[in-house]
Amino acid sequence: IFLPTRRNARGFDLGDIADLDCIEGARRPFRDRDFRAMPITVIPLDPEAAEWRPMINPADPDDTVGLVRDATATEVEQAITAATPWGASPRERATVLERAAELYERDFGEIIAIVAREAGKNLLDAVGELREAIDFLYYYARQAKCLEPAPRGRFACISPWNFPLAIFTGQVAGALAAGNAVLAKPAEQSPLTAAKGVALMHEAGVPQSALQFLPGDGATVGAALTGDPRINGVAFTGGTDTAQAIRRNMSQHLAPGTPLIAETGGLNAMIVDSTALHEQAVRDVLASAFQSAGQRCSALRCLYIQEDVREDFMEMLLGAMDELRLGDPWRLSTDIGPVIDADAAADIAGYIDRARGAGRLIKQVNAPGSGHFIGPTVIQVDGIEDLEREIFGPVLHVASYRAQDLDAVIERINARGYGLTFGLHTRIEDRVQHIVDRVHAGNIYVNRNQIGAIVASQPFGGEGLSGTGPKAGGPDYVPRFAAPDTPAVAV
Ligand code: NAD
Ligand code: ALA
Repeated sequence: IFLPTRRNARGFDLGDIADLDCIEGARRPFRDRDFRAMPITVIPLDPEAAEWRPMINPADPDDTVGLVRDATATEVEQAITAATPWGASPRERATVLERAAELYERDFGEIIAIVAREAGKNLLDAVGELREAIDFLYYYARQAKCLEPAPRGRFACISPWNFPLAIFTGQVAGALAAGNAVLAKPAEQSPLTAAKGVALMHEAGVPQSALQFLPGDGATVGAALTGDPRINGVAFTGGTDTAQAIRRNMSQHLAPGTPLIAETGGLNAMIVDSTALHEQAVRDVLASAFQSAGQRCSALRCLYIQEDVREDFMEMLLGAMDELRLGDPWRLSTDIGPVIDADAAADIAGYIDRARGAGRLIKQVNAPGSGHFIGPTVIQVDGIEDLEREIFGPVLHVASYRAQDLDAVIERINARGYGLTFGLHTRIEDRVQHIVDRVHAGNIYVNRNQIGAIVASQPFGGEGLSGTGPKAGGPDYVPRFAAPDTPAVAV
């Protein structure tokens, strides 16, 4: 709806046996493949300049997915020196990005396999990941054609592990569409997936001088990139605290006014009132809170149920949780895979234990013993102010409210300062507008789940502590990567 010709990835119908067979056949050769990733810079590198780090499948400690060799500080420095904005015309850049999208489609089996093994994504999430990455490539390519943006210079793109392909690709494609030289740093937990994306973008025709790949941790590679005065812009997606650290680093070392595009965390709420259709709301709560093991910035963290219907609704919700199937993400029947690593599992488990100790644990589903699994959990709270912080896992907090307190609930949600997603289940039309007018959130979903924004249709991004904007997959994204004096070309 935001651009004249809209094209989204076809994806797969996971209810169709022919599509499932197609995916199975395409991903099988990669079930035991040993992947490798190391920095890719214009300057030739010594593969042994640093140790190779094993990447372990979070669902299976016996599955080593591959090895990564992180970038050294010297290599980051050399890559920044060698970075050269992409000289091609906007139309040529668009053609190359569209070709990259076709290559992502060509290699879907390998991509789905790596994402499952490296990030623990089940089939639904892995397919969604691939589709979103392809959508970003097509959408930003179209923006390059329509807007004819001119580059700012060198852009550092720093991404999280929870969308190891989609967000990584989206940032890089946005910066490239505007013609920048990109220095891309994936999360330390997901370099193998990102390396595959870079290989395909290079194969499509993006020059190496315009896209260099620098795997490594935040303290070494991330801090070096965001503290180098030759960097002309930073695109970051990750935690709110990390964004604040990056902003401080940039303000000390980078030119004043250097843009930071930060997409960060959320404490997302949903309200279910007494007119909601229970079966639908339960399904949407399960998806919002527990799909992807709750490892989405958009995920539901605090559910408010109108007290008149709380008992019935909770009975249905807790019963439905028993139907969730946890386990190997590669298995077709798996609803919920593992959390990303041992540190994440320990953090979430510790939080749940404290809630249990305080007598606030309502339910926890059993989880497999091996691998980093956390059973979906429900915790009783009085309201969103009881949430200490964003718990990035399958943990849902539940509160109730009286009908006359609805506006006060919205004020309490707004008062937390985040503003990413918000969900509402009601069948009163006036109430929808009343709440939409008051709640501070970038993406508001009514009578559906609150995850999985679709590129071009649902630009995604938050306000306040949840991000700076512009929304990813929306019309303002590529212009933020472009030189401020880029003329807007009429379409
Ligand atoms: P994180 O903040 O720990 O790491 C994100 C990236 O920043 C990684 O590549 C990391 O290496 C890098 N980094 C860490 N310290 C750095 C530093 N000092 N300087 C530069 N870079 C540094 O986040 P994560 O655990 O990878 O991802 C989960 C978080 O991301 C959650 O808070 C989630 O809500 C958020 N997220 C937000 C969105 C969104 O669109 N708003 C999308 C996905 C994830
Ligand atoms: N864009 C992702 C979602 O909407 C984060 O779930």
